[in-house]
Amino acid sequence: MCDNPPNGPVLKTLAFASKASTHWQVPLAMLCLSAGLLFFSPQAIGQDTPVYFKLNCTNCHTIGGGRLTGPDLKDVSKRQEREWLINFLMNPKSVLDSGDSYGKKILEESRGIYMPTPPQISKDRAENLLDLIEDESLLEESQFKGLKISTAPFTDDDRAKGRNIFLGPHRLEAGGSACISCHSMYDTPSLGGGRLGPDLTNVYERLKGRKALSAWLGAPGTETMQPIFANHPLKSEEVHALVAYFESTTAERPADSSAGRVAFLLSGLVGAVIGVFFLDTLWKRRFHSVRRTLVEANTSRGKL
Ligand code: HEC
Ligand code: HEC
Repeated sequence: MCDNPPNGPVLKTLAFASKASTHWQVPLAMLCLSAGLLFFSPQAIGQDTPVYFKLNCTNCHTIGGGRLTGPDLKDVSKRQEREWLINFLMNPKSVLDSGDSYGKKILEESRGIYMPTPPQISKDRAENLLDLIEDESLLEESQFKGLKISTAPFTDDDRAKGRNIFLGPHRLEAGGSACISCHSMYDTPSLGGGRLGPDLTNVYERLKGRKALSAWLGAPGTETMQPIFANHPLKSEEVHALVAYFESTTAERPADSSAGRVAFLLSGLVGAVIGVFFLDTLWKRRFHSVRRTLVEANTSRGKL
């Protein structure tokens, strides 16, 4: 029992300890645990790898549960060399943009969505992550096979609730901001929706359907979304309602709301015209006053 491989023995031992029914097993497990810590101290970084993976990777990947936003990671080290994978984990975008055919293929299969650089990634962490993925790939059923995502059919109530969450009247239980403050939707009045994030009309299709979008919303992994929703995770009923709503908007209308764009351009034009008038008046006034002081200066000099 003490000869587990260094990665993950602690969690496994702990799980064992908590299941142990006879009292002598617990101290024995503790002993193994401390022995493990002593003998494998250089690997100590590896011990939080499953937790790290759960927090930062499972919103886009399963191990053996099919693709979400990103590919199923089962047996990934049989598909690609370790060195490539390490470089990729350290900086996904630069490896994908370097233009090799494998990178092109996986980017295409993900509809051009780039994997974000994992937070606080280092070479050691990348190695540990790949070790974990390899270990988990060998199991009949990985603990990362996938989240339990509701498959209940969407109802009108779900869609209505989703829309209310998006627009704000339905407050999020954990207190995150309403989506509309940063996102628009095809039917949000022009300039009504926020512009910081992308238009979400077609997000159901863009993020590859119910399972992937639900997983994504359960733990967003992108630059702006992650910090907001790490502290205020959406509840699974909220995700269910939002996904129901996004499914319906995709069906209803293509994302290009050209009416909105025309309104945006027009308002820009009107703004520019007003601006020109304003500057013009300002400039004239300034010009007059400059001329007046010049005239005054000259006439007063003339008096001398
Ligand atoms: C926001 C979604 C997202 C997150 C979060 C994410 N990935 Fe990815 N991952 C992708 C996508 C998409 C791809 C496919 C390549 C691309 O388009 O960027 C990918 C590709 C990969 C690959 C190569 C897969 C293959 O088939 O060759 C590995 C390995 C990988 N990710 C590991 C991880 C690990 C480990 C984490 C957590 C630290 C993680 N990813 C977090 C989206 C994500
Ligand atoms: C403070 C601003 C802000 C709020 C509030 C916000 N988002 Fe986002 N969201 C963003 C930004 C910016 C992005 C682009 C990726 C990034 O930088 O995180 C984004 C990306 C997304 C994406 C991925 C879109 C794509 O095409 O890849 C989804 C889905 C999403 N947000 C859903 C939501 C939902 C649902 C809510 C409300 C519960 C919400 N967001 C609230 C700023 C926000």
